Amino acid sequence: MLHYHEPDRDYGTPAPAATANTVSLVVDAVAVSVPEGTSVLRAAALAGINIPKLCASDNLEAFGSCRLCAVQIEGKRGYPASCTTPVEDGMQVSTQTEPVARLRRNIMELYISDHPLDCLTCPANGDCELQDMAGVVGLREVRYGFEGANHLQAEKDESNPYFTFDSSKCIVCSRCVRACEEVQGTFALTIDGRGFDSKVAAGDNESFMDSECVSCGACVQTCPTATLMEKSVIDAGQPEHSVVTTCAYCGVGCSFEAQMQGDQVVRMVPYKGGAANHGHSCVKGRFAFGYATHRDRLRTPMIREAIDQPWQAVSWEEAIAFAADRLRAIQQRHGRESIGGITSSRCTNEETYLVQKLVRAAFGNNNTDTCARVCHSPTGYGLKATLGESAGTQTFDSVMQADVIVVIGANPTDAHPVFASQLRRRLRQGAELIVIDPRRIDLLHTPHRHKALHLPLRPGTNVAMINALAHVVVNEGLEDSAFIASRCETEAYQRWRAFISEPCHSPEALESATGVAADAVREAARAYGRARNGAIYYGLGVTEHSQGSTMVMGIANLALATGNIGREGVGVNPLRGQNNVQGSCDMGSFPHELPGYQHVSDATARGRFEADWGVKIDDEPGLRIPNMFDAAISGSFKGLYVQGEDIAQSDPNTSHVEAALGALECLIVQDIFLNETAKYAHVLLPGSTFLEKNGTFTNAERRINRVRKVMAPLAGKEDWEVTVDLANALGYPMDYSHPAEIMDEIARLTPSFAGVSYAKLDNLGSIQWPCNDAYPEGMPIMHEREFPIGLGKFAITEYVATSERTNRKYPLLLTTGRILSQYNVGAQTRRTANQTWHDEDVIELHPHDAETRGVKDGDWLGISSRAGHTVLRARVNDRMLPGVVYTTFHHPGSGANVITTDSSDWATNCPEYKVTAVQVEKVSQPSSWQQKFKAFDRQQTTLLQKGRRPAPEVSEG
Ligand code: SF4
Ligand code: SF4
Ligand code: SF4
Ligand code: FES
Repeated sequence: MLHYHEPDRDYGTPAPAATANTVSLVVDAVAVSVPEGTSVLRAAALAGINIPKLCASDNLEAFGSCRLCAVQIEGKRGYPASCTTPVEDGMQVSTQTEPVARLRRNIMELYISDHPLDCLTCPANGDCELQDMAGVVGLREVRYGFEGANHLQAEKDESNPYFTFDSSKCIVCSRCVRACEEVQGTFALTIDGRGFDSKVAAGDNESFMDSECVSCGACVQTCPTATLMEKSVIDAGQPEHSVVTTCAYCGVGCSFEAQMQGDQVVRMVPYKGGAANHGHSCVKGRFAFGYATHRDRLRTPMIREAIDQPWQAVSWEEAIAFAADRLRAIQQRHGRESIGGITSSRCTNEETYLVQKLVRAAFGNNNTDTCARVCHSPTGYGLKATLGESAGTQTFDSVMQADVIVVIGANPTDAHPVFASQLRRRLRQGAELIVIDPRRIDLLHTPHRHKALHLPLRPGTNVAMINALAHVVVNEGLEDSAFIASRCETEAYQRWRAFISEPCHSPEALESATGVAADAVREAARAYGRARNGAIYYGLGVTEHSQGSTMVMGIANLALATGNIGREGVGVNPLRGQNNVQGSCDMGSFPHELPGYQHVSDATARGRFEADWGVKIDDEPGLRIPNMFDAAISGSFKGLYVQGEDIAQSDPNTSHVEAALGALECLIVQDIFLNETAKYAHVLLPGSTFLEKNGTFTNAERRINRVRKVMAPLAGKEDWEVTVDLANALGYPMDYSHPAEIMDEIARLTPSFAGVSYAKLDNLGSIQWPCNDAYPEGMPIMHEREFPIGLGKFAITEYVATSERTNRKYPLLLTTGRILSQYNVGAQTRRTANQTWHDEDVIELHPHDAETRGVKDGDWLGISSRAGHTVLRARVNDRMLPGVVYTTFHHPGSGANVITTDSSDWATNCPEYKVTAVQVEKVSQPSSWQQKFKAFDRQQTTLLQKGRRPAPEVSEG
């Protein structure tokens, strides 16, 4: 008898590797059949019998140290530990005999004799496995007193802002050490010393903060006692109910249990049943939720006539009427095309869908765009052109079948940490790693990895690199001819083959462009080309270039040529930055596409929306974000509704963006804080965080996850309700009572979502689209049998050097990226204790470049580009190549985007953030932009405070 697997139960040891062989045994007279390789502890748990345990957990390999799980097995001597004993056919296991019970009581007695007996005041009271096990084994007395040597006075480590380490409560089960190694892959903890002196040590016997710990919390989650404990639980006490929801930070889309006391989040615990994260998380999702109740939250709608006037707090009705009047008046004066809307990848699918519907149906134009414009729009273009679908091809779990893993222009340990942990696990199992990136990213330092190659190319030469790799594959006979013949369009392939075989694409010919030795490129191409399963993962280092779309097509070409598409362990996988980049693109945010990537010029698709929405839809694409800025500056674009996006901080060439925003007659910003864009606004509509609303996010694997409301919206409305109100005020009726109804409409109009509903999501947990009659439960691996366009289509990928070149005036190349503790523009994470790790953006440069300029670590450096000038502190390190400098853009006052130019991808206008020619020099004061920024910030904060109604004091978490 096999029992149904409940995701949030702990089965003691991990499931064994997949096998067709089953083993039958009897546990306490219950017959059970389990896969070969299962432990006795797990087999018993599957049969509904819980053997006591302390050092075992089903996300960690069995360790066998506590002995509490001892059992008796017929024909075997002694009392074997059931966690380390594999099942055998015909085994007769007894878990509750008197000798076993006595043994367990003795073990518990020893543990308790060196443990503070302060259960009633202990923060883990009610959630302590040691306490539970003492109860289960029937411990009634402790014969050994506390007089002898003990650990009761051991010091507490409170250095981490989110958790404490109280070693007086440690039972040295080593679960934390194993979680840090096996689950997280950081190896920050060890057991130091032996016997009685053994203790958990972080790093080189340092504090947690000083060690290499990345604060993922896996150790805290697994600790069976109060030794490692969330400070939020110490402060608030144990939660009394929980709700499963989805992290609102990155594109991994981790599932969490929001553990609550009333409407207060006590802690976020990664949900074991989450198909993207399997119970793991990073520092952002687990700990950085305090921003949701931060005192800076906007709690009331506000309006003003001009941006130098104080805000006036008004009712929702007044604010919506004010916004609608202004938009209507603008259209009357300047025409239908003079207004538009911007959706956000931080918002839910339902919210995004409604904003683009508002623009197309109520504004009457297609001037809708999304922040994916500035990150992954080339993915949409490039993958659609070659594979026929704008999405990653795999599940995250698929990486566990990959033999060669190519990571291009991505830094998963910082930007997609939970996926990075899984990837590192695969690297420890022996998969080979190829990193194509100007920086020596942390993945290359994965402990215990096997083979790794780093191709440190010059920024801006991606296409040259991918062409060189493909050239080797073709010219050295590494193509998968059978795949190409059966799955790809012949004519396009032959054209591409002739193109890529040309000597000008050889690694030798391109060496001077890429800066990477031809031998290394050949070695990488051979490894990928010969791999049983080769998988490519890429990020913004691919897309945010003038040839972003070309590079995406080049990646798809390489995967097609080697047959690395359409099964586990392979594929082309864009790592999406924000939580709902995939979803915001799916939901029709782009000006040329209706939901489900249906082109506005497609009369059949358009007709379906027109019939459902009861309006005519323009058949011409509308304005993209950069077009909106240009039109605002030239005077033809006057009104903008921005939901959940901070274009003033995140878009390139800040001065240009500021000029555009300053030229608008009506800017409506719906957000949770007064962000940089909101400082130019005339209407402020308070947004709701992911904790305050229902909806769905779609992660980088196309996985649609439910977002569930755990507390009431601080300002009284969920974001989708605000869009509904605005549409109604504009005279376009919208009538929904719950986001589930919005999803039903999406399913009705979008073939790839046809089978999606909240009921099905609740039932299955999550769904990877497409989900329709052909794939009623979704499609984990895409393109298994055919491509949506029938045959895969090779594309010609001519390398054209970017016009953003270095010269004597701007001799260095600046590239930008993210850091683990901060998220995107930082509006959320800057309002949490994550600031402890990164409270300013710095400029990283190679020691050689620092030396030739007389720059020392910590000096203030002026950075000048053709677009502007800013000042940041120098960080000298050799993660960069000489000639390349790097910064992040998490702090608005840094002005990182003051220096990025508006050079962009030829196909999609995605900005070329990753390549800006700059010069750096030592300076002693902030740039003039930074001084202006400070003054404007002060002015706008004062104007906000004048208009704000007093808000109750709340904790910052
Ligand atoms: S800190 Fe917790 S998990 Fe780690 S050894 Fe001690 S009791 Fe076990
Ligand atoms: S928080 Fe994560 S990285 Fe830090 S010690 Fe614990 S498991 Fe390791
Ligand atoms: S930020 Fe990303 S990796 Fe971290 S918990 Fe959230 S979804 Fe997971
Ligand atoms: S649970 Fe098996 S030895 Fe600890």
